[in-house]
Amino acid sequence: MKRLGRVFLVGAGPGDPDLLTLRAARLIGAADAVVHDRLVSPEILALAPATARRVPVGKAPKCHPVPQDEINALLVALATEGLTVVRLKGGDPFIFGRGSEELEALREAGVPCEIVPGITAAQGCAAAAGVPLTHRGLASGVRYVTGHCRADLPLDLDWAGLADSDTTLVVYMGAASIEAITGRLIAHGMPRDLPVLAVNNGTTRRERRLLARLDDVAGRAGEAGFSGPVLFIIGRVVSLYAQRPGALLERLAADLAMEAADA
Ligand SMILES: C[S@@+](CC[C@H](N)C(=O)[O-])C[C@H]1O[C@@H](n2cnc3c(N)ncnc32)[C@H](O)[C@@H]1O
Repeated sequence: MKRLGRVFLVGAGPGDPDLLTLRAARLIGAADAVVHDRLVSPEILALAPATARRVPVGKAPKCHPVPQDEINALLVALATEGLTVVRLKGGDPFIFGRGSEELEALREAGVPCEIVPGITAAQGCAAAAGVPLTHRGLASGVRYVTGHCRADLPLDLDWAGLADSDTTLVVYMGAASIEAITGRLIAHGMPRDLPVLAVNNGTTRRERRLLARLDDVAGRAGEAGFSGPVLFIIGRVVSLYAQRPGALLERLAADLAMEAADA
């Protein structure tokens, strides 16, 4: 009987290949098979050996070419062939990535599986834009929410809890629902002029950013005609966003100098 292989659920990060972890790069370079999502860049896939089987199971919004059950079954089948399988997912496998569902299926089938974390889109896009997700005096926490519900059910989020301008809110998969989301947040008391940064294709050469307000981001993002993934960072930390390079560092240095003077 063939020795059972193993599956690594690997986070590929938000797009820039330099944001892969060393562990992810090593595992991709040694894989027998790479089962990958749509958002994983060609440069990252190129790290796999030429002999490795590459299986795209990409999901486009509202279009699921390979249903999740089939992906789970495919991972089990490849491991049963004795292969070392890298299941490569955009960002982090456990942040809106269905990595936990794949882990459950592999555990049920008795296939050894390891999770390799990746830089999630919120962290990658925020860092690339020079916007901290928390900042003393501006945001004491950060929340990641999805703007898309299973089977296109209406979004059922805790709007009253989310409408807290002391906390940064990051919306994944929200391009189609940003108008409804911002409308509910304003209805629950979030300031209409709260700054919002929309990031499209963050950390890649195609990155585009839009600085807007809570009450106009939906219209302006629509006009921008983004193509590819979009993330919305909502909150007072976005006031630190500056297109002028170095402006954030100057502001942070000024804050540090003030803190030192207060101490
Ligand atoms: C299915 S979720 C997967 C998230 C992924 N597991 C992560 O941790 O980043 C896909 C959503 O992530 C966000 N996203 C992923 N990569 C992005 C990027 N490079 N730029 C902007 N948003 C991105 C978008 O909101 C997109 O709709």
